[in-house]
Amino acid sequence: MKEVEKERALTFIEPGPVVLVSTFDGKKNNVMTISWTMAIDFAQNIVITTGSWNYSFGTILATQECVICIPPANMLETVVRVGMVSGREVDKFKEFKLTPLSAKYVKAPLIGECVACLECKVVEYIERYGFIILHVERVVVNETLKEYRMIHAVGDGTFVIDGEKANLRELMKEKLPPGL
Ligand SMILES: Cc1cc2nc3c(=O)[nH]c(=O)nc-3n(C[C@H](O)[C@H](O)[C@H](O)COP(=O)(O)O)c2cc1C
Repeated sequence: MKEVEKERALTFIEPGPVVLVSTFDGKKNNVMTISWTMAIDFAQNIVITTGSWNYSFGTILATQECVICIPPANMLETVVRVGMVSGREVDKFKEFKLTPLSAKYVKAPLIGECVACLECKVVEYIERYGFIILHVERVVVNETLKEYRMIHAVGDGTFVIDGEKANLRELMKEKLPPGL
């Protein structure tokens, strides 16, 4: 995977894809599925929403880090299956044949099959809403895939895959920060 400018982090979260969140609890890698995400500024801060019913939640708070990975459309079934079982019982990297790769700033692994991975550190946890604010320390992209379309959850068990893309960069240029 190739490192790119940190500014690119926003372009992977702002479209609202379903993401895979990897963690390392000190003994074992784990991964969960998250569709509740949001970009909140141009300074590489993002939010995920989760809670204590997930094993990953405790690991993220204990280690203060995770990796947010963007799966391509052809991983949809795996993405759903990952979100249907817990790392308390299942070694999900093994079960779902995911490739853990070493990250630079965190112990949680990158996922080799994903479009991009964002190495993140926890900035703040807002308990009332289960918001975990993350700062992206490093962005890596996968340049070897055939499929780059992202997956979007509707919320009722159906999903939308990226479709037509419109380019209005010229109209927005005054609002686009350097690096984007
Ligand atoms: C499509 C999909 C989207 C999900 N989105 C979220 C989410 O946004 N937040 C969350 O806490 N759990 C979400 N989940 C549920 C977790 O992924 C699930 O509870 C997971 O098995 C937790 O794994 P763990 O116990 O190993 O951490 C989602 C599951 C699926 C299938």
